[in-house]
Amino acid sequence: MTRRLEDKVVLITGAGSGIGAACATLFASEGAKVFASDLKLEAVQHVARQIVDSGGEAVGFAADVSKRADAEKLVHEVVARFGRVDAVINSAGVAPRNAPVDWDWERVWDFVMAVNMKGTFLVSKFAVEQMVRQGGGAIVNLSSIYGLVGRPADLGSGLDPYVHSKGGVAQLTRDMGVHFARQGVRVNALCPGFVYTALTKRLTDDAERLKFLEERHPMGRLGRPDEIARAALFLASDDASFITGACLPVDGGYTAQ
Ligand SMILES: NC(=O)c1ccc[n+]([C@@H]2O[C@H](COP(=O)([O-])OP(=O)(O)OC[C@H]3O[C@@H](n4cnc5c(N)ncnc54)[C@H](O)[C@@H]3O)[C@@H](O)[C@H]2O)c1
Repeated sequence: MTRRLEDKVVLITGAGSGIGAACATLFASEGAKVFASDLKLEAVQHVARQIVDSGGEAVGFAADVSKRADAEKLVHEVVARFGRVDAVINSAGVAPRNAPVDWDWERVWDFVMAVNMKGTFLVSKFAVEQMVRQGGGAIVNLSSIYGLVGRPADLGSGLDPYVHSKGGVAQLTRDMGVHFARQGVRVNALCPGFVYTALTKRLTDDAERLKFLEERHPMGRLGRPDEIARAALFLASDDASFITGACLPVDGGYTAQ
C-alpha cells in the first residue's frame, strides 16, 4: 500500500508531547522525513529516537517558536538537512497554567500570546517563504474549539489569553490560506475539543472536572492525540488538495451544539 507522505519533509513544532508527538509518530509511519522540534530538547529527542528505532526517519531539534531567530533557524535547518519543507504542523502551545504562578495577569497574557499566536505566525512566515520558493506546501495550525466559540461562563473568565490566541490562529489561517492559495501553499487549522495530553492533565486528573468536560462533548468523551494526528495527516496530505483557509473542528461535536 502507498504511504500517504512518502518522502515528504514535515516540520512539527511542539513534537515533544501530546498532539505534536502523535503527529510525528503517525507521519513517520506514513513515510515522512520528520523534523521534530520542541522547546524541550530531551523530550523531542526521545520521540525522534522512538521513530528511528521503529524504522522511520526523524531528527529532534530544540527551538522556542516565540523567538524570531529560533523560528527562522528552524526552517533554515530543515531545508539544510532535507532540501525542502513540504508540510508544517504548528503544535507548540501553552495555556495560562504553564506560566509561573507568581506572574501577574498581563505577563501571563503576553506569554500565552507569544507562544500560541506569535509562535504560529513566526514559523508559518518563514515556512511559507520557503514553500513559495519551492513551489508549494501545506501548513496545519493547532487552533481549538476556543478559536471558534467563546468559553462557556462556567468554564472560564472571559479574560483568557488561551481563547484569544486560538481565535488569532484561526484568523491567521484564513488570511494566509487566501493569500498564498495561488502559490500552491495550503494553510488550514484543526480546532480540537479537549484532548488527553499534558496540557489538560490537571483537569482530566480531577474525576469531577473530567465528568463535567466529557458531558460538554456530544460524544460524551474527550479526544485522543492520535485522533487529532489523523486529521492533521489528512490536511497535510494531497488528500486535502482543494482545502485551504479552513478551520476544521475535531471535537466530538462540541462546536455543533
Ligand atoms: N490538549 C487539548 O485539549 C487541546 C485542545 C485544542 C487545541 N490544543 C492545541 O494543540 C497544541 C498541542 O497541545 P498538546 O495538548 O499536545 O499540549 P502538550 O503540552 O502535550 O504539548 C505542547 C508542546 O509544546 C511545547 N512548547 C511549549 N512552548 C513552546 C515554545 N515556546 N516553543 C516550542 N515548543 C513549545 C511543549 O514543550 C510541549 O512539548 C497546542 O497548540 C494546544 O493549544 C490542545
